[in-house]
Amino acid sequence: MSSDAFGDHVSIVVFGASGDLAKKKTFPALFGLYNQGLLPKNVNIIGYARSELSNEELRERIKSFLKFKDDAAKLKADGFLQLISYISGPYDKPDGYHKLEEAISKYDQENKVQQSERLFYLALPPSVFTTAGKNIKEHCYPEGARLRLIVEKPFGHDLESSRQLQKDLAPLFSEEELYRIDHYLGKEMVKNLFVLRFGNAMLSGVWNNRHISSVQISFKEAFGTEGRGGYFDDIGIVRDVMQNHLLQVLTLLTMDRPVSFDPEAVRDEKVKALKAFSIDNDNILIGQYGKSEDGTKPGYLDDDTVKKDSKCVTYAAMGININNERWDGVPFVLRAGKALDESKVEIRIQFKQVAKGIFKEIQRNELVIRIQPNEAVYMKINSKIPGISTETSLTELDLTYSSRYSKDFWIPEAYEALIRDCFLGNHANFVRDDELDVSWQLFTPLLQYIEGEDRPELEIYPYGSKSPKSLKKFLIKNGYVFD
Ligand code: NDP
Ligand code: BG6
Repeated sequence: MSSDAFGDHVSIVVFGASGDLAKKKTFPALFGLYNQGLLPKNVNIIGYARSELSNEELRERIKSFLKFKDDAAKLKADGFLQLISYISGPYDKPDGYHKLEEAISKYDQENKVQQSERLFYLALPPSVFTTAGKNIKEHCYPEGARLRLIVEKPFGHDLESSRQLQKDLAPLFSEEELYRIDHYLGKEMVKNLFVLRFGNAMLSGVWNNRHISSVQISFKEAFGTEGRGGYFDDIGIVRDVMQNHLLQVLTLLTMDRPVSFDPEAVRDEKVKALKAFSIDNDNILIGQYGKSEDGTKPGYLDDDTVKKDSKCVTYAAMGININNERWDGVPFVLRAGKALDESKVEIRIQFKQVAKGIFKEIQRNELVIRIQPNEAVYMKINSKIPGISTETSLTELDLTYSSRYSKDFWIPEAYEALIRDCFLGNHANFVRDDELDVSWQLFTPLLQYIEGEDRPELEIYPYGSKSPKSLKKFLIKNGYVFD
């Protein structure tokens, strides 16, 4: 275990414990780790928020979101819930923080803890990050304690606000203490990119512009912003999933090999890769969903929490260039949309055509890495049709996890994997300050363009459709060959 790992007694404080993320993700992730025996040996879990709740009320709320993979897990739920207590208090006044400090110190004293270790998880709207951070620093960070702070996205709205947030948090917590979470970095298949790329000579050898002709990273959700329209309207799909989740995937997919698994070595390479990315404002397609074709599903503008004339982007596809020796000339497309025909996130890498001559018609190889659902890696290869035929057909070398691995293999939820990394003191799968800055430098001009006076036209697509109609043309323009 790394020397940075927390020891046997840790206090975990979930700020915004009454909220959506806490009940759906944070507490269930802590339960998942508890169930697998992956929490520190002894934990003192405290929920903190303004709402007046008793310990029991918070536990009841959490209980309905816990996932049980088997009966044994169900039996452990009560033991887990009993570890949780709740403190109600404001974010901007010391009162609640004093109570919090008392509760943590009492736990430390009772357990004869030599060095107090604390994880604060800010499951709060970003407007409260700095206030909560200041108060935690002032009232809940005694000398000699070790503290880690997990901060949720969004880290800013654009370059300026992101820099401001950095500026506000930097005097309070060191980069070592800050863990900026992007939950895509905790997804199993995203973590596998490293091994697939750098652990297989047959892939690392062709991972460049001499062999690859185009790459797409696609995010599709089969549901709209129902109930979250108020939040989404100011954000749009580009900020919501592209500037962070998909960009992270693209970076891991294209960065050079780091010298080691050391978190800083990994993040150094990521930043280097990111600096070579550019987006051309003319190479973008944006859309917004309307009613479904059969009229049963609402359009984006039918949501009461959304401005009636909102131009919010719920679908975007953009071309990204990578201006370095490895990738120069390869078109990369990021595309993401809400209210489509299915929920799926995948990477599709298309290879160059083999030399003409011996084959009349032969298709291109494609490597598909499906991040979710049902993790899979499959390679489309040409093979002779068995028998006396000399014809070829495109077939698949298929690693679908659910059929390859035994039924009870365990893939941690992204939040479980990341919270565990934080206990271990491993920053590799968290976003570093300079990485964040470069990503906003890349996306801010594009956001200004698509939200400005001269914005491109929004293409309306029906709820439940595959994509906006012009996507096919867009992909062809960006080098994808439809066989
Ligand atoms: P919520 O809106 O549910 O807020 C969490 C809690 O914060 C609330 O229960 C409330 O608690 C308190 N709160 C809400 N608004 C304010 C306010 N204006 N001032 C002070 N306190 C407030 O947010 P989520 O749980 O959905 O999200 C938390 C963070 O996680 C956000 O940064 C979000 O962007 C991020 N996130 C959320 C995801 C999700 O699926 N929900 C996914 C990815 C990231 P109380 O009033 O009791 O204090
Ligand atoms: C969140 C976005 O960050 O990621 C949501 O705010 C989106 O809008 C979600 O639905 C997607 O995450 P996942 O893990 O469900 O693919």
